[in-house]
Amino acid sequence: MEKLLLITLSIITTIESNPVINPRQKVMLLADIDQLCSKLVVIDNMFFKFDIQKNVSGIPADMNVHWKTGNVFFTLISEEMKMNIVVLHNSGELEIIKVAGLGQSTSVDNLNDIVYLATDNGVYKYKDDGSFEQYTAIGEDVMYLTVSADGSAMFIATWPQNRVLKITNDGQKIELFPAIPNGHGLTIDTRDNIYFVATKTSYVLKNGESIPIKIKGLPSNKMTGIFVSRSDAVYAMDENSNLFIVNAETARYLGSFGIEGVNSFAMDAADNVLIGVKGAVLKFTALEQNPCIGYTKTENQEDTTEYKRHKSRHSHRKHARATTSTTEAVEEEYEEELEEE
Ligand SMILES: *[C@@H]1O[C@H](CO)[C@@H](O)[C@H](O)[C@H]1NC(C)=O
Repeated sequence: MEKLLLITLSIITTIESNPVINPRQKVMLLADIDQLCSKLVVIDNMFFKFDIQKNVSGIPADMNVHWKTGNVFFTLISEEMKMNIVVLHNSGELEIIKVAGLGQSTSVDNLNDIVYLATDNGVYKYKDDGSFEQYTAIGEDVMYLTVSADGSAMFIATWPQNRVLKITNDGQKIELFPAIPNGHGLTIDTRDNIYFVATKTSYVLKNGESIPIKIKGLPSNKMTGIFVSRSDAVYAMDENSNLFIVNAETARYLGSFGIEGVNSFAMDAADNVLIGVKGAVLKFTALEQNPCIGYTKTENQEDTTEYKRHKSRHSHRKHARATTSTTEAVEEEYEEELEEE
């Protein structure tokens, strides 16, 4: 939750009369609010602010988040179709995980804080210090894996056998799991329903059943995957960043982030949404409240004569940089004032 944003609009009226802020700072602050509110993504009753873009060389696939650390794990597919498992640290640093064998995908057991790596050499556990240890060697190339919510069972999809195996008892007991034919993008929810994507169509194998069914209400041939949020909600996203919520075998459309060419999506512990597109991981920060209630562009533009003059004197880039730092300073002042009250 971004405290600064929430106070931003409540101070619009205050800044009109406050002598602490000079007119130049005032117009720049208003310009910043214009920028935020014109780009705010409203989905259902959630509000998202486009935040950061991490450029990557390739296509991010199968994104997962370790909620405790905020680390984002994904498979980076290069132009030459070479794959690496990478971790995008909370700090913004991107690191290739040098696991033995060819890294295919990841899965995070957030209950037990274990990150698993699927490789052509079996499954490994990844530790926060960057080291890893083998969890199970099955002699098959593991493409995808998922772990049940209580951590007791792992499902893995292997290639070229094109089958799903169920592993229990700490990697020792392995059995065929024929209910799911191949299992691309395997995901399991807290009720042990298993989701997977076949030819970009999402299916669910409901707990206790033996035949997977196509999820109703999702576009056929466009799905990127399913993600289970920290609050146990099941979300699906298609290639055009349309977000759906999935309940049992039915999905409901929530809204769009306005991004094309989505390859993978994930949500962190605070329900911030990460979207992987060719060349970048985009982040949309979730806001608990609408920071733009009462905002109308014309209202804030009444006093932009000086802003326009200012803009014409400087390059756009310079202006953006100046706006950020000045706005922060202004907001800090206001935070102090609000705390004093
Ligand atoms: C990331 O890529 C975008 C679009 O290609 C570019 O506009 C932006 O400057 C890049 N950002 C960084 C930090 O390199």
